[in-house]
Amino acid sequence: MRVFGIEFRNPVLLASGVLGISGYLFKRIEKMGAGGIVTKSIGISPRKGYENPTIVELDYGILNAMGLPNPGVDHFLEEIKDLNLSIPLIVSIFGKDSEEFMKIAKKLENYCDALELNLSCPHAENYGMSLGQDKNIVYKITKDVKKTVEIPVIVKLTPNVDDIVKIAIAAERGGADGITAINTLKGMAVSIEMEKPILKNIYGGLSGRCIKPVALRCVYDICRNVKVPVIGVGGITSAEDALEFIMCGASLVEIGTAARDLNVFRRISEGIEKFLRKKNYTLEEITGKITKNI
Ligand SMILES: Cc1cc2nc3c(=O)[nH]c(=O)nc-3n(C[C@H](O)[C@H](O)[C@H](O)COP(=O)(O)O)c2cc1C
Repeated sequence: MRVFGIEFRNPVLLASGVLGISGYLFKRIEKMGAGGIVTKSIGISPRKGYENPTIVELDYGILNAMGLPNPGVDHFLEEIKDLNLSIPLIVSIFGKDSEEFMKIAKKLENYCDALELNLSCPHAENYGMSLGQDKNIVYKITKDVKKTVEIPVIVKLTPNVDDIVKIAIAAERGGADGITAINTLKGMAVSIEMEKPILKNIYGGLSGRCIKPVALRCVYDICRNVKVPVIGVGGITSAEDALEFIMCGASLVEIGTAARDLNVFRRISEGIEKFLRKKNYTLEEITGKITKNI
């Protein structure tokens, strides 16, 4: 299947950030059947991230405030430059403004298949969500990165806005080749014994099963209003979940929290194929089936 002009062996990709960024790990994920890899978000220089605790395990998902720890683009290039993956590598990037995004994008252009712009992290001051909540900024960053590189540019959106469609349209107008929806929902957790917030950063991003209905609603609304391909992400743990996103119009899906079990890629992509065989459909035929019918 081809999306953004890139060939994918199946529509089930690793979402940004949940696993590490070592080349060894990317090779493992390739072996475990993923259709493609989105890396952890990479910035211009090394960043430690926040102090612990950075993760709270909940019954229905997880809350994280990692603070975008990463080795910086130059070290990261060393990790990926001789990888020779047989599946597409999409590098997620973040920056504080258009100039920073352009610099990072240019350095990575020859070493990956596409870029995913993280305009949506809910717990990093001056980065991420604060940029992605303003449609003018989303338009400008997308447009500037697009004119800097030749590879596809995908924009990842935050659900923490009043109208995600407005932001998706701004990204499309800026020339985005695709939209990824959604990043985590801003949340918090409290320890009543310690009488304080559990996360050092107070706020974190909520992910996992509990956010699926929100993610699905976002994907459905975006797909009805933009023409570029959409990647659905948020709470997907089974083939049935992935098929819901695909029927709402997603061309690809990403697995985040559920990718802590690396068997998830094969389980979901085989489950999708089984469903298609049972119904005698092609993937193209069910993509957006619900969206088109309304
Ligand atoms: C521990 C953790 C770290 C994450 N780091 C990033 C990141 O660096 N960049 C990014 O765009 N999204 C990041 N995300 C968000 C995921 O890519 C995904 O959008 C979100 O978790 C929803 O999908 P899920 O419910 O399948 O986890 C992170 C999520 C988690 C749980």
